[in-house]
Amino acid sequence: MSFVEKTNSFARNKIVMAIMSALSFLAPLMYYAFRFGWVYVDVALFSGFCMTLFWLMIVNVILGLFLDISILYGDKLKKLDFKDKKWFSILSVLHIILTALATIIWFVFMIVAGLESIGVGIKFLTESVPLFILIYGGLVLIIFFPRIANFKIKAILGGIIAIVMLFGVIFSIFPSYVYKINSHPIVIDNGEAYSIVFSTNDFGTGYVEYVYEGKEYKVYDENNGRLNGNSCIHTISVPYEHLDGNTYKVGSTRVIDELSYGGRMGAERVSEEYKFTTPKGKEEQSYLMISDWHTQIGKAKKAIAYAGDYDAVLMLGDAAPGLNFEDEVVRNIVQFGGEITKGEMPIIFARGNHETRGRYAGMLADDLGMDKYYFTVDMGAYTFLVLDSGEDKEDSHPEYGGMVNYEQYRNDMIDWLEKVEIDDGDKVITLVHSMTIAIEDDLQARAYNRLVELNSHYVFSGHTHEVGLVESLGKDIITYEDGGFNRNRYVASKITLRPDDVDIKAWDNKGNLVFDNEHKANLR
Ligand SMILES: [Fe+2]
Repeated sequence: MSFVEKTNSFARNKIVMAIMSALSFLAPLMYYAFRFGWVYVDVALFSGFCMTLFWLMIVNVILGLFLDISILYGDKLKKLDFKDKKWFSILSVLHIILTALATIIWFVFMIVAGLESIGVGIKFLTESVPLFILIYGGLVLIIFFPRIANFKIKAILGGIIAIVMLFGVIFSIFPSYVYKINSHPIVIDNGEAYSIVFSTNDFGTGYVEYVYEGKEYKVYDENNGRLNGNSCIHTISVPYEHLDGNTYKVGSTRVIDELSYGGRMGAERVSEEYKFTTPKGKEEQSYLMISDWHTQIGKAKKAIAYAGDYDAVLMLGDAAPGLNFEDEVVRNIVQFGGEITKGEMPIIFARGNHETRGRYAGMLADDLGMDKYYFTVDMGAYTFLVLDSGEDKEDSHPEYGGMVNYEQYRNDMIDWLEKVEIDDGDKVITLVHSMTIAIEDDLQARAYNRLVELNSHYVFSGHTHEVGLVESLGKDIITYEDGGFNRNRYVASKITLRPDDVDIKAWDNKGNLVFDNEHKANLR
């Protein structure tokens, strides 16, 4: 037997083919799982070297597939029969060499990673399992199953599966869509500072750029010095004085891969310039007030359009039935808030009971840059006292799935309320999702007594999805519920604060003025 014949018989041995297939498929998966070692090789050679090796491994998989199909089906489909060609033998040998090299490479990366990181590599590998199944599923379909007699159909099926496989690999490693900032920023006044929040259509970093007193600032969404990159929502805290009356831009760089060693970034996007103004210095201040939109953003926007101009927005909660995914916060709070404020004015956010539900609900405070959901906001001559009514039923109610502890929470809030100090001379307005404040009678009485002490003559709330004045739970307090979504109708309110009175109006999404009232309360 000549050398060529010996090589051919070795390469065409069914057991050898099976081992080579398995090894060539395993190589890019294992190599990619241990990619946190790539950075050192790239630094020593050139950037992109290790990724090139990865693509060579993919090419080797495709080469192996081609060889296998030709050997297995060449007898039946003469067009695929290259067994006697010299170049086919050369490719067979090349495939064996490349597979051996690829196996050595990933093995070395795994060994070098060492015991401390081997578990991390295995975890990354499990992330690739869907891809692994796709590739092996494709292989099985093409080569072993089904035994379709018509080779044309088989070839077409094989071609489609091969293309899907290839794009599956590419898109799992390179994102398939263009990176975008997909909201205007919202500027939340959390009582301590502004938190600027915006969203992107994939994970990325976030920053805000502005000039204050001649100095250029670039403030990142970060945590103890490390940029946050595993979120589509970006949150940056900025001192009040830096933003009031100033212009700013937001920016973000896509994060494709974060690793213990190295990683990959994508495109950077920078927003238009936003001009931010606050009502703080104004004697007359007008606020859009909305609650209970429950994902009905289209109708809410129609009603809001009838309200005309406003200086700031009061969001009183219940954006969605619950928060299970980051995307629900993006759509119902960040994008919606961005559309109605255009990044130009502050938002005061009071949490609704539906923002306490679902597995993502616990992330909301971080996303909005709010330490607490009860706090005070100083708006010049007026102070907003923001409270969090939690839920409207006992903690043991089955609706909450055992995930709440509001009785204690409301107790803590009322303790805080009894101690909170508000500048003398400020007119105090209470914002709370549910005007009951607390379902516990004693807590509710304490809360309303304190509101009277603090001279808060107005309580603005939502929750009932009704519009209008309601019987107050406190003496000399005017309580107004601002509307929301109800029976296919959305009602948005606008309040105008003046030194001696408060004007309240509300519109529905058809443009009907559904509430119109001026109140001269005993404001001090
Ligand atoms: Fe509610």
